Amino acid sequence: MKKVIISTLFASLYFSAQLAGAGELSADLKAGQDLYNQLCVNCHATGVDGAPRLGNKDDWKERLRMGEDTLYEAVIEGPNHMYSKGNSPIESEGQIRSMIAYMMHSVTDDETSKLINTATDEEKARHMRLLRGYKNYDLVCFNCHNSSEEGAPQVGKPEEWGSRKDLGVDKLTDSVINGKGHMFIRAGTANFSEADYKGMVEYMLSTLERLQSSKQ
Ligand code: HEC
Ligand code: HEC
Repeated sequence: MKKVIISTLFASLYFSAQLAGAGELSADLKAGQDLYNQLCVNCHATGVDGAPRLGNKDDWKERLRMGEDTLYEAVIEGPNHMYSKGNSPIESEGQIRSMIAYMMHSVTDDETSKLINTATDEEKARHMRLLRGYKNYDLVCFNCHNSSEEGAPQVGKPEEWGSRKDLGVDKLTDSVINGKGHMFIRAGTANFSEADYKGMVEYMLSTLERLQSSKQ
């Protein structure tokens, strides 16, 4: 595993990846591994509730593109079914980052290292909106939209959405806020802002377009 390191920019990250390939982790990654094994392994080893699995490149490809900063933001926020910081008592940013770095490292090789942090700012912002949208969706909307309850168009099923898709996020969000057919005004809850509803709708629409790979 000899490799000439051309870019100094990614050199340290790259170098630690190479070291690990040889079976050794840098001190930071080792610390991340230890914490991961205590706090995160329960869900991230087998993929509980869709948690991206350690070492599974398909689960992480899109997430590598988001880069460590965005993933850190996500972990603090607590993605769906995870709770903030995986419900762990850890406060130190450095420690949390070390776990994320270890997880990213588990899927980093010559090929995937090129993906790291390549997403645009808009893609990163969208990642966070969808993360929140999905979380909120799973509090309220799943009741009807995970199936086709009362004629609700189901997530992940473009055929059930038909021309509704073309209304766009804003108009669809209006439908939710004003109520439509068997869906009550604000889907029957007063707990969310217009931006929240918009995020939920954006998440729902995203399930119609990304059936191929990116997210589970
Ligand atoms: C109770 C189960 C559970 C535990 C414990 C848990 N996670 Fe997760 N994690 C998840 C699930 C589920 C997702 C996927 C959520 C999604 O895609 O909406 C996730 C997603 C992530 C992501 C990707 C976020 C993104 O932006 O896509 C990172 C990074 C992560 N977890 C890190 C951690 C770390 C670090 C720990 C330990 C401190 C941890 N997780 C503990 C369930 C868990
Ligand atoms: C009680 C069941 C129920 C719940 C809960 C529910 N919906 Fe609906 N939803 C429906 C039904 C039924 C329709 C189809 C209405 C029609 O066209 O007659 C629908 C339609 C929609 C549409 C398409 C609107 C249009 O203009 O065609 C969107 C978008 C939507 N729901 C989003 C949401 C969001 C976001 C939530 C959570 C905040 C939610 N729904 C919660 C039942 C529900």
